[in-house]
Order: sequence, then C-alpha cells, then structure tokens
Amino acid sequence: MPQPTPAQLDERQLATLVDRFYDKVRADPLLGPVFDPLVNDWDAHKVLMTSFWSTVALRTGHYRGNPLARHQPLPIDVAHFQRWLALWHETAGEVLDEESAALMIGYAERIGYGMRVGMGLSGHLRGRESGIPIRARQTAITTR
Ligand code: HEM
Repeated sequence: MPQPTPAQLDERQLATLVDRFYDKVRADPLLGPVFDPLVNDWDAHKVLMTSFWSTVALRTGHYRGNPLARHQPLPIDVAHFQRWLALWHETAGEVLDEESAALMIGYAERIGYGMRVGMGLSGHLRGRESGIPIRARQTAITTR
C-alpha cells in the first residue's frame, strides 16, 4: 500500500537530501571505499539517486533500474547497511521536516531490508536491532 506523501515533500527537497547524504557517504571510512572505484561522476550518481527516491516517494516514475542487481556484486555486509541507514536517518533529520523524514527513513529501511534479504545477508536485522530508533514501528505481542 503506498503511503500518503506529505504535501510539502518535493523533488527539490529529495535532491538536497541525496546531495548531503552522498557527501557523507563519500567521506565515510566504511562506505566511501565501496563507492570510490565505481562512482566517478558523483553529480550523475546524485541525479540518478534523486530520480530513484522521487520514483519511490513521489511516484514520478523517472527511475528505471535494478538496484538489487547493482548491489549483489558489491563487497558489502550488514555493517554497511547499518552505517548507510544511520547516515540516511541523520541526514533526513537535518534536511526534512519530521513527517517527511519519517517517511523517507521508513522507505529506506524497507528497501534496505529487502535488499539484504535478496543478497542473502542476515535478514532478521530490523529497526531497533540495527541501532536505528524507529518510533513508528510497533510489534504486536500476544500472550496466551
Ligand atoms: C537502503 C539501502 C540502499 C538503497 C535504497 C540503495 C539504492 C541504490 C540505488 C537505487 C542505486 C542505483 C542503481 C542503478 O544504477 O540503477 C545504488 C547504487 C549504488 N549503491 Fe546503493 N543503496 C542502498 C545501500 C547501499 C549500501 C549499504 C552500499 C554499500 C556501500 C551501497 C553502495 C552502492 C554503490 C557502490 C552503488 C553504485 C553501483 C554502480 O554504479 O555500479 N548501497 N544504490
């Protein structure tokens, strides 16, 4: 079920989020070295990633690609996903209003989770267990 998009969230904000996020990724000691050999043109990567996120959040349909296939050959594990999501969480909080940040964090968590499962990495690592506080997530526990 698509989630309602906050009226104030637009492509320009997503471009700012992507811009700041990848500046951090690039400088990050764990993530940066994975991108270095593959991404020569960071401006082009940011344009691609803005089209990805605007397709996810604003349903623009600009992105056509296969993210899982691009990640499968990468030398990455759960720690890379944790770090990626921590930086995404931090940047969304800096750039977006609370509602939009929560939406974008939720999307990234779900997509990242799907990717980890698709890559055969530990699939059970979610939300709080990955060190990311998720207010929206609630687990129903029934005791009988
Ligand atoms: C929620 C988590 C993630 C999402 C949503 C995501 C999304 C994407 C997307 C959409 C692309 C573009 C694919 C294309 O060319 O069409 C991409 C590329 C890339 N991602 Fe991720 N990614 C995630 C996590 C990671 C992590 C943890 C790493 C590890 C450092 C990573 C490294 C890369 C690299 C190196 C590329 C460029 C690949 C290439 O050009 O060959 N990503 N990502």
